[in-house]
Amino acid sequence: MSSIYPPLETQRFILRDFVESDWQAVHAYACNPEVVRYLPFGPNSEEDTKNYLHTEIKSRRKKVRDHFTFAIALKSDKQVIGSCRISISDRNKQEASIGYCLAKEFWGQGYGTEVARKLLEFGFKQLSLHRVFALCHPKNKASMRVLIKVGMRQEGYLREYEWSRGEWQDRLLFAMLDREMMQMQLLNIELEKV
Ligand SMILES: CC(C)(COP(=O)(O)OP(=O)(O)OC[C@H]1O[C@@H](n2cnc3c(N)ncnc32)[C@H](O)[C@@H]1OP(=O)(O)O)[C@@H](O)C(=O)NCCC(=O)NCCS
Repeated sequence: MSSIYPPLETQRFILRDFVESDWQAVHAYACNPEVVRYLPFGPNSEEDTKNYLHTEIKSRRKKVRDHFTFAIALKSDKQVIGSCRISISDRNKQEASIGYCLAKEFWGQGYGTEVARKLLEFGFKQLSLHRVFALCHPKNKASMRVLIKVGMRQEGYLREYEWSRGEWQDRLLFAMLDREMMQMQLLNIELEKV
């Protein structure tokens, strides 16, 4: 499998690899406590954000990539307004996890859903995955809603699953299988015909 992938495109975004000069755009949201409330990092210092980007960029040097972090750039003006990722957790099981994060001023316009849908499509079609999952803090209602809207199913409630911010935190487990993605696409095609 080649490790070179062109940027992904949705109706409103280009999902592309980060470059070092994106750090200010990333920092603008990564330093916001409200944005990172349910994330494992932040609020970031400038140094944290630069180190994060540096690590992400370095991780692309691997011959076979198993971790893809994309900048979410608006098509209209190329502004970077967030990031998203898909990470292969187990190649033998053809399994990966997804995650996403947007600057607060862009919440509530369907952007999170548009991005998550593309990550699933990329995972199943281009990475030939069998299963994609996401973990979500039970209080993160917006993220939970995104996962439901893209058609992922809640499979479990993982008690005290992650040590984060000085406490054991629960996580909701959502997942989708490749055949469910195909069924959903067939359904959409049928609906378009109506
Ligand atoms: C999660 C996130 C990406 C969602 O992005 P978004 O662009 O606002 O998402 P969408 O607009 O596509 O959908 C959000 C849905 O959540 C709903 N929602 C938002 N806040 C909610 C709340 N407090 N309670 C219930 N539903 C809520 C919205 O109404 C919408 O659902 P609807 O379309 O049925 O009305 C964004 O909130 C974010 O970046 N959060 C910080 C980072 C984060 O927590 N990432 C997820 C880690 S698992």
